[in-house]
Amino acid sequence: MEKFYITTPIFYVNDKPHLGTAFTVIIADVLARWHRLKKEKVFFLTGTDEHGEKIEKAAKSAGKSTKEFVDSVVLQFKKAWEKLDISYDKFIRTTDPKHEEAVIRFVKLLWNNGDIYKGEYIGWYCVPDETFIADSEVKDEKCPNCGRPVERIKEEAYFFRLSRYKDRLLGFYEKNPDFVIPDFRGKEVINRVKAGLNDLDITRISTTWGIGFPFDKKHTIYVWLDALTNYISALDWPGGEKFDEFWPADLHIVGKDINWFHSVVWPAFLMSAGVSIPKSILVHGWWTVSGAKMSKSLKNIVDPSELTKTYSADGIRYFLLKEKSIWEDGDFSESALASAINGELVSGLGNLVARVTTIAEKFKGDIKGNDEIDEYMYKVCGFDLSSLIKKVDDCLCKTYRTDIALKDIMSAVGCLNKYITDKEPWKLASAELGNVLYNVLEPLRIISIILRSFLPETADSIFSQIGVEPQDLEKAKMEQHFTGKVKRGKNLFRLVEISV
Ligand code: MSP
Repeated sequence: MEKFYITTPIFYVNDKPHLGTAFTVIIADVLARWHRLKKEKVFFLTGTDEHGEKIEKAAKSAGKSTKEFVDSVVLQFKKAWEKLDISYDKFIRTTDPKHEEAVIRFVKLLWNNGDIYKGEYIGWYCVPDETFIADSEVKDEKCPNCGRPVERIKEEAYFFRLSRYKDRLLGFYEKNPDFVIPDFRGKEVINRVKAGLNDLDITRISTTWGIGFPFDKKHTIYVWLDALTNYISALDWPGGEKFDEFWPADLHIVGKDINWFHSVVWPAFLMSAGVSIPKSILVHGWWTVSGAKMSKSLKNIVDPSELTKTYSADGIRYFLLKEKSIWEDGDFSESALASAINGELVSGLGNLVARVTTIAEKFKGDIKGNDEIDEYMYKVCGFDLSSLIKKVDDCLCKTYRTDIALKDIMSAVGCLNKYITDKEPWKLASAELGNVLYNVLEPLRIISIILRSFLPETADSIFSQIGVEPQDLEKAKMEQHFTGKVKRGKNLFRLVEISV
């Protein structure tokens, strides 16, 4: 059985989740569910990044103890992910004692390898990004990544010899051309590495909210070294069975702002520790609001938990996955979300299920097929069902174009709606009607299997309306008989008001 280990970044708990962070988790969820449908052994990891100066400051300004504060925010993440139907296998917290122990062991390996030395950091630091920034990148004392003010710091620090890994990293990228996806993000990284690597400050003395540095108790371990280690500590590294089973990760999903840490810093740490390197880093774009990245300081955050009060989780998942290619940035608006729901979901998929279940519930004859639907679909949409599955598989395992996959699925739904309209089933005699129903219900069963990864609640509701147990991809083939007991249920989606 093939294994598939997929991770999201672990989220800072200085604030509750927003739609941008939800995007990363939803992509990971769709891919994890798809690999489960393919009967692979999947481990889907998410969690929270809880140490560091920014979290300590956020707790202070909330008037709470840091531990009390992080516990309350973690709860909000868990609740939001539950509302969005995120099927993670493990939720890791960097304040878990087992994680903290693993980080210390990991740091000791870098130390024993001669990659850590003591020095002094004089330069810029972006607290919201928890990132050291080179002088040449800072303009007007602002962070080049997030645009927020940076702080000038001068402190004793321990450094990791990142510069030592330049050639090994370049050699690794050459041998593994699919390491960073998409290609243009890989090129960005390679060009920066070629330009030279500075050693990286890996301890802080300005915050005590972190894991103690084992070789000098005045220092805490830099959050990024702590955080990246979660991908192996979650598997009980070293020595854990899960580690042997699932490492190296198949896919780390990250936003473009943290590509550098995953594609350069993380592999260098792993090389130093003698641990193998993940297979791929998938780098996605951002959701913006009126052109600006969602962030607390800009007060433009869209709260996914609030959105689920008006829109279904599947409506939100659908919109985020189909509205743009995952590489690009996309601007979020509630009116675009509402029109996607009212269009493809209410008038398309919802309407199809309502139409066919209404007729099929009353039909007493045999629902069996002549497979003319494959030819019909081919003529009307340009592909049949087996090529649809293949295309979706390519989109979820090779090109990562969830938008194209959903467009194709909705085009198949459109075909079936057109087929019903063309056939006018309400005018047909029993035998012919049985045939037409088969030609809609069988493809609908197959489409529902595919939809289990994108819109899990909707897929379950279709299965229950067509009287079939939820199935995996091995069942996604037309059979000659449709054996479900159809019972029209409630509408899949609610029409929503569009505000302009
Ligand atoms: N804690 C670090 C990650 C450590 S992983 C070892 C971090 N956390 S974060 O909460 O700031 O961001 C987590 C993820 O959410 C990142 O991949 C980031 O790109 C993503 N997003 C944050 N805002 C986003 C948008 N507005 N749009 C899309 N994704 C965004 O970085």
